[in-house]
Amino acid sequence: MTTILHIKSSSAPQGSVTRQIGITALERLKAQAPGAKIIERDLVKTSVPHVDPQFVGAMFSGKPDAAELALSNQLVDELFASDIILIESPMYNFGIPSVLKAWIDHIARAGKTFRYTANGPEGLLKGKQAVLVLGSGGVYSDGPMKAMDHQGTYLRAVLGFIGITDVESITVEGVAMGEDKKTEALARAAQQAALLTQHQPAAA
Ligand SMILES: Cc1cc2nc3c(=O)[nH]c(=O)nc-3n(C[C@H](O)[C@H](O)[C@H](O)COP(=O)(O)O)c2cc1C
Repeated sequence: MTTILHIKSSSAPQGSVTRQIGITALERLKAQAPGAKIIERDLVKTSVPHVDPQFVGAMFSGKPDAAELALSNQLVDELFASDIILIESPMYNFGIPSVLKAWIDHIARAGKTFRYTANGPEGLLKGKQAVLVLGSGGVYSDGPMKAMDHQGTYLRAVLGFIGITDVESITVEGVAMGEDKKTEALARAAQQAALLTQHQPAAA
């Protein structure tokens, strides 16, 4: 059975474009994997705390089962249990929302999701597919703002670091640049989401 981890991080009270396109993407993935199990992590409804001294102390304590790491271990388990990771991320100040960063701080764990070898770091989450739904008010895929994109570039870098290299991005950009541009961006993203293909066989 296919398992899809669906991560939401928009704090928009209504009209979130990443949540809207995320629904289309999820429906498409589910249509290709009847009976798929969905693990939903709405990081706005239920936020993951910032890392604090207790967390960092436990992380370096050599006791991976320390109580302070219980949530982190659960989030890591969810990743390992998933075949597809669908991440919705608006751009906030050229990067990702802090609620999503807090989740990353909990799942990037030495010895669990990556390890250091004599040849450098090795990601331990193999054979996963990720889909990013990226929203932004401006345009970053090309043009003068491209160098300011620390959203999609960052997410791809982190996912690659933990071993997830099959990453597809659906971009809804320029949504603050007028209604026409927003409507066009949403239509293009919805089309891309409706054509998504599942790459990974369900984990045994
Ligand atoms: C706190 C905050 C910071 C933002 N920072 C940026 C930014 O740096 N660049 C940008 O292009 N848009 C920025 N935006 C606009 C959002 O990226 C844009 O509205 C996007 O649609 C948000 O996705 P959502 O509709 O799913 O919430 C920001 C919005 C908020 C609320």
